[in-house]
Amino acid sequence: MSESFFFHSPVKVFVEKDPYEVLSDFLSDSCRIGVVSGKVAILKTGFKEFLLKSFPDKEFFFYDDISENPRINEVIKGGRFLRDSKVEKIIAFGGGSALDAGKACAIFATNNRPFYDLMADNNYERPIPLLAVPTTCGTGSEMNHYCIITDLEKVDKVNFNKPDLFPKYAMLWSEYLKSLDETLLLWTVYDAFSHAMEGYLSKRSNRFSDILAMESMRIILDNLKSYSNSKRMDLSKLQFASALSGAVILHTGTTILHALGYYLTNVHGIQHGLANALLIPRYLMMCEGKGVEKIDVIRNIEKELHFSIVDSIKDVLGDRVIKLLSGVDTEKMVDYALNKPNSLSTPFVVTKDYILRHFS
Ligand SMILES: [Fe+2]
Repeated sequence: MSESFFFHSPVKVFVEKDPYEVLSDFLSDSCRIGVVSGKVAILKTGFKEFLLKSFPDKEFFFYDDISENPRINEVIKGGRFLRDSKVEKIIAFGGGSALDAGKACAIFATNNRPFYDLMADNNYERPIPLLAVPTTCGTGSEMNHYCIITDLEKVDKVNFNKPDLFPKYAMLWSEYLKSLDETLLLWTVYDAFSHAMEGYLSKRSNRFSDILAMESMRIILDNLKSYSNSKRMDLSKLQFASALSGAVILHTGTTILHALGYYLTNVHGIQHGLANALLIPRYLMMCEGKGVEKIDVIRNIEKELHFSIVDSIKDVLGDRVIKLLSGVDTEKMVDYALNKPNSLSTPFVVTKDYILRHFS
């Protein structure tokens, strides 16, 4: 019998279309607009000024209290602010944190309820429609309904999601990436690569997601090669690759690599994309050791490009990998990861011993 699978994306994606046109369309029937962001990118890119100058007939309500790993109290507070401001539409502007938080704020704005109470209940008021504007090229958050929120008390990252939390529009405008610091840009690129790679290898992958994942990995590797040779990358292509990988994990989820990375971020404060970069070479070895066949396709892409992801990571991180991992309690990290649902999609049977062997 033929393989059965589905593919779904309700997000209308605009690639390099004039922001004024996209926003005019999105905001056309609304007067009160909420904007969720961090403090820096919205000013550095000139986006706040652009909104105020381009749409003088609209009233904007800015909530810029989103931190790098958005917390439960930030999205509850943002939801209250947007509710009190009676906004009709929301623009989420920034990296994955701002987009994830923006989506969560959109549902807490219409549902005045405690975080876990709403998370556990599928009976809720629909969130406020949202347009996502990514300013990094890593998370692909603009393409899915996931909100990764940090619970400080539990020292944990929680995937809050609801079927209605997809952005209505995603606006990919690579000009907004130009103000990104080079190091952060690289970390976000490794995050996008790990989404595509984990999605491709995931137990939940299908032929549709595989095509997107392979193209995403090819674009990213080609750009990492160009970075290695000339320190240059094509931001527009990378942003597209990141959106592709966001659509991939919408169908496949991530795997134990991300779960291990969450521990490095929660406990050691290692930036999310950097944490993934530290883990990618080991994860590939784990898959190879277990005979995961699809690894060959990744190796073929690397051969075609005469460049490998592991070389790229060695190039960029050098012996910092050892330093960054040296203080980590790997047993605790593995215990944490094995309890996350991500590990269920890993393409081999995950055991504590096997994972630990790759960190000795
Ligand atoms: Fe990620």
